[in-house]
Amino acid sequence: MVLFLVGFMGCGKSSIGRQLARRLGYGFVDMDADIERQAGMTVSEMFDRHGEAYFREREREALARYAGLADTVVATGGGVPCGVGNMETMNRCGVTVYFKMTPEKLALRLRHGRDKRPLLRGKDDGELLAFIRERLPQREPFYGQARLVIDCDGVSDDYIAEHVVRYMENSVK
Ligand code: S3P
Repeated sequence: MVLFLVGFMGCGKSSIGRQLARRLGYGFVDMDADIERQAGMTVSEMFDRHGEAYFREREREALARYAGLADTVVATGGGVPCGVGNMETMNRCGVTVYFKMTPEKLALRLRHGRDKRPLLRGKDDGELLAFIRERLPQREPFYGQARLVIDCDGVSDDYIAEHVVRYMENSVK
């Protein structure tokens, strides 16, 4: 079983994903880190040297590699669900979980994570919030195709992890 965590940058896919993998006894894959290892360069370098479309193609290839994995939590990149057919792929070969958060909460969590994310580089606090307010509604229709949607506002990362563990125990064989 592959558990795909989806959602906007900063929603906690990687940090909660690591915790989930530990609790479920699953392996863990951080998709951006995996793509960086395969490509031998960082996501930012990929955007700079080859453009965003090149990176999106690497994301599609990576997803195809994960399709047959056993018992693994995959923290996907925030743009993965928007790639043509990617939500279908993830829903076909695993369980998808969307960590849903308001732009305000995402902006707070992203204040220290701007530099390694090419889409956020150089934005001040106001520009960051404006960017999230514009992009999130465009992405919601894709994120919303997840099998489990968790409203993550006002709750701790531990609570979110607990919610997913209980869902997996009760609903997934
Ligand atoms: C992106 C999200 C990033 C990374 C890249 C593009 C996006 O991953 O894949 O910078 O388009 O939302 P995280 O969601 O892990 O930050």
